Amino acid sequence: MPEINKDIYILAIESSCDDTAAAVLKNNTVLSNLVARQAIHEQYGGVVPELASRAHQANIVPVVEMALKKANIDKNQIAAICFTQGPGLMGSLVVGSSFAKSMALALNIPLIAVHHMHAHIFAHFIAEDGYESPTFPFLALTISGGHTQIVLVKDFFNVEVIGQTTDDAVGECFDKTAKILGFPYPGGPLIDQLAKNGDAKKYKFTIPKIPNLDFSFSGLKTQIMYFIQKNMKDHPNFIEENKADICASVQYTIIKILEEKVELAMQQTGINQIAIGGGVSANSGIREKFIANQETKGWKTYIPKFEYTTDNAAMIGIVGYHKYLHQMFEDVNVVSKARMDM
Ligand code: KG4
Ligand code: ZN
Repeated sequence: MPEINKDIYILAIESSCDDTAAAVLKNNTVLSNLVARQAIHEQYGGVVPELASRAHQANIVPVVEMALKKANIDKNQIAAICFTQGPGLMGSLVVGSSFAKSMALALNIPLIAVHHMHAHIFAHFIAEDGYESPTFPFLALTISGGHTQIVLVKDFFNVEVIGQTTDDAVGECFDKTAKILGFPYPGGPLIDQLAKNGDAKKYKFTIPKIPNLDFSFSGLKTQIMYFIQKNMKDHPNFIEENKADICASVQYTIIKILEEKVELAMQQTGINQIAIGGGVSANSGIREKFIANQETKGWKTYIPKFEYTTDNAAMIGIVGYHKYLHQMFEDVNVVSKARMDM
């Protein structure tokens, strides 16, 4: 059994996509949380898996060293090492898991595997001054470049996906729209920025009719593509002259889709707590709407600190900490998984 009166230091590693991240936690607080972003993908308009794994190999040792240094702890103080097991890009995951295994073996400490989407949900349990965590049961909306899910969270280790995308993820919809508009990758943050000065009601896009709590975003992307092609034909400067309004209108539609499904999930479960996570929850329009819904619709909205919403290792660390308390350790023959059930 772990000694409960002793502080527990956890080293966490996240390498599921194109960011190499390491964090050190002391119990449920974060001592350091570092991310090495890979700019190389911008010129290709998306993440190139082969380049991502090479960059992880180059970045992982310096990022871990920096995380330990910033936390001001020695590697011999670490109680366990946790890493993202999946889902994600295989070549990227393998760099993180192999590193974690080697270091755990060298230090003779436990190894802990973490589900990436689990981590996006439990980022809400990182102890931060002034941040109140949700209470069980609650609903989580995890929105990223790879996922769009509504999860019923009953406990730390009891989560159920009750709705998900049937095609593109919401982040993909943002990024593909940005690509159609000729913006650099990833275009989500730029759409968010431009939307602030645009008229959200100027252009109307149809909300897809998808049953139950599932989502679909590929139809919206196609709608946007035809809308742009049609307008550009008669008006070659159409994008340039209207980009703020286009971004605001697209973002408005995306928020409406998310909001309607969350509302339905609340009706079906009788739960009014909604915790958002994943890179897209950095979107200011989504944040504003979900916060406003506390007043107008009686929601209880939880949004973690910005650095815990996009891919980061602190969120892997908080799940690792709870798994450590429950002694949920792995053998060194544990394998990375590109696809992984919750
Ligand atoms: O969770 P994340 O960092 O990585 C994945 O696991 O996918 O999410 C990245 C996604 C990208 O699609 C990016 O465009 C989107 O999050 N994103 C945003 C914003 N910031 C990041 N989308 C809209 N508005 C933003 N402010
Ligand atoms: Zn993510």
